[in-house]
Amino acid sequence: MCGIIGYIGDRKACEVIVKGLKRLEYRGYDSVGVVTADGDRVEVRKGAGRIDELTEKLGFLEMEGNRGIGHTRWATHGVPNDINAHPHTDCTGKIAVVHNGIIENFAELREELLKKGHVFTSDTDTEVIAHLIEEELKSANGFEEALRGALKKLKGSFALGIIYADEPDRIYVVRNESPLVLGIGEGENFAASDVPAFLEYTNKAVFLDDGEYAILTRDSYVVKKLDTGEVVEKPVHEIEWTLEMAEKAGYPHFMLKEIYEQPRAIRDAIHGNKEVISRVAGEIANYEKMIFVAMGTSYHAALAGKYLFQRLAKKIPIVEEASEFRYEFEDLVDKDTLVIAITQSGETADTLAAMKLAKAKGAKVLAIVNVVGSMATRIADLTIYTHAGPEIGVAATKTYTTQLTVLTMLAIELAKVLGTASEEYLKELENELEKVPGLVEEVLKHDAAIRELAENLTDRRDFFYIGRGIGVPTALEGALKLKEISYIHAEGLSAGELKHGPLALLEEGVPVIAIAPNGKTFDKMVSNIEEARARGAFTITLSDRKEAETFSDVLIEMPSLDELLTPIIYVVPLQLLAYHLAVLRGNDPDKPRNLAKSVTVE
Ligand code: F6R
Repeated sequence: MCGIIGYIGDRKACEVIVKGLKRLEYRGYDSVGVVTADGDRVEVRKGAGRIDELTEKLGFLEMEGNRGIGHTRWATHGVPNDINAHPHTDCTGKIAVVHNGIIENFAELREELLKKGHVFTSDTDTEVIAHLIEEELKSANGFEEALRGALKKLKGSFALGIIYADEPDRIYVVRNESPLVLGIGEGENFAASDVPAFLEYTNKAVFLDDGEYAILTRDSYVVKKLDTGEVVEKPVHEIEWTLEMAEKAGYPHFMLKEIYEQPRAIRDAIHGNKEVISRVAGEIANYEKMIFVAMGTSYHAALAGKYLFQRLAKKIPIVEEASEFRYEFEDLVDKDTLVIAITQSGETADTLAAMKLAKAKGAKVLAIVNVVGSMATRIADLTIYTHAGPEIGVAATKTYTTQLTVLTMLAIELAKVLGTASEEYLKELENELEKVPGLVEEVLKHDAAIRELAENLTDRRDFFYIGRGIGVPTALEGALKLKEISYIHAEGLSAGELKHGPLALLEEGVPVIAIAPNGKTFDKMVSNIEEARARGAFTITLSDRKEAETFSDVLIEMPSLDELLTPIIYVVPLQLLAYHLAVLRGNDPDKPRNLAKSVTVE
């Protein structure tokens, strides 16, 4: 996820761009770059760091010209450094491109372009786009045709901003599975990843759809289809949000926005990782000793990973909190050990310390991380990125479901390498995984009902979350979400444990939330829910089995899918419940008391 802002008009483009980038900083903040053009003179300035610091250091505000494009980066390919910052240019320096998204086939495109003599200066997937357009320009009838020719060759998601030196009166923008919106002014036009970037100047917006591009001049804009070049008439929307609301895309909190971003994030996690995960699986399949280390929500993902590895790859990994691992496993780790560290920030002190210890003992370390170039990726031998985009809310949501997605893919690939599950079953699972983003969209439709439910539960002091098998991590995560943002005491536990102690705490009206997908433990879950109900508990069941209605006070009906994929979708109603309870109780879910986004002390 990155931020793009483009401008053409009579103002100094650099001023509009720097302001716009500051408003898009929430979309990514590891590097920044600006291209402006004055006639046919194109200038690029870029570097790793935050906008304020770079504006000062690189003198963005001194850049000449009335047209330009800016980019704030959240790295996906290539660490965040000066060279990998956008914009990227072709060999002639005349074509400058900024990009938000992931080009899935960039490696093969780059290979072809290298053979044709193109010289690359960065490790990014984006740079191939500039070179591809340059290549097409050799035979195309003009720049626009070259652009369309190049874009047809790209697979993946992209929103692009493009400047071509030899066309001094225009800028181009493109949208395909990454957001892009035009801002329509008087004698000036804008384009951006999100409305707040230009809302100060105009509230008239035209939202591009996938597979469309636009050409902006000072006084006009035209939107066309990428495949045919046909002009598309688009409605102009009047935006009524305040700037602050717009930054959160109209959501009252980043957490809610991030919950709703999960379909997109999971899609990116799947499509950005296919090759990497199959390569990593090949490298790790033969390790017998596998240990997951992580903290908090990432630890819950690790627990789900354990079930996935057990069921699919017939491996029996150990899952250890990173803070415990350091002291308990010192003598148990060696060169035959694989340590899988899961950390969205890549900066959690306990997890980094566990990774360093593992490395010192000669173990192989695989990191599953969201933040590209973070410390964990520098320690690890191998890294898989979750591609969730920046998460601003302190409570992890989309980074968790993308961790689960990556772990599912890894377990599937391991099973392929090891031959521990039938090919047909693995294919079915892969097909079902592709449907998960759509199923999350379905589950999000329960939002209003969950809010209503939350309204009746604001005064409860204790919540219990129960599950079995791969449902246990979901129960733990549901409880953690509730604790950290609503400040209500909650426990997550395996349903089998209930009558070994915690049942004593159940009294009239205590909410018990049961994770009960159809699967091998469904019947056992039914008995546990009945036990809780018999003690007066208020039972809320998440299930795809309609008959759960008969023994639950509330049924949250879930889509049916393979039990191994349920963690990704079953956590979503629990995130929403925690969110609504936090808001109803007057808390700021984005900034829970006593907590920080990355815990950099042990
Ligand atoms: C909970 C939460 C924390 C983190 C934990 C580890 O919502 O966000 O429990 O999961 O602090 O953080 P990372 O994944 O950055 O290592």
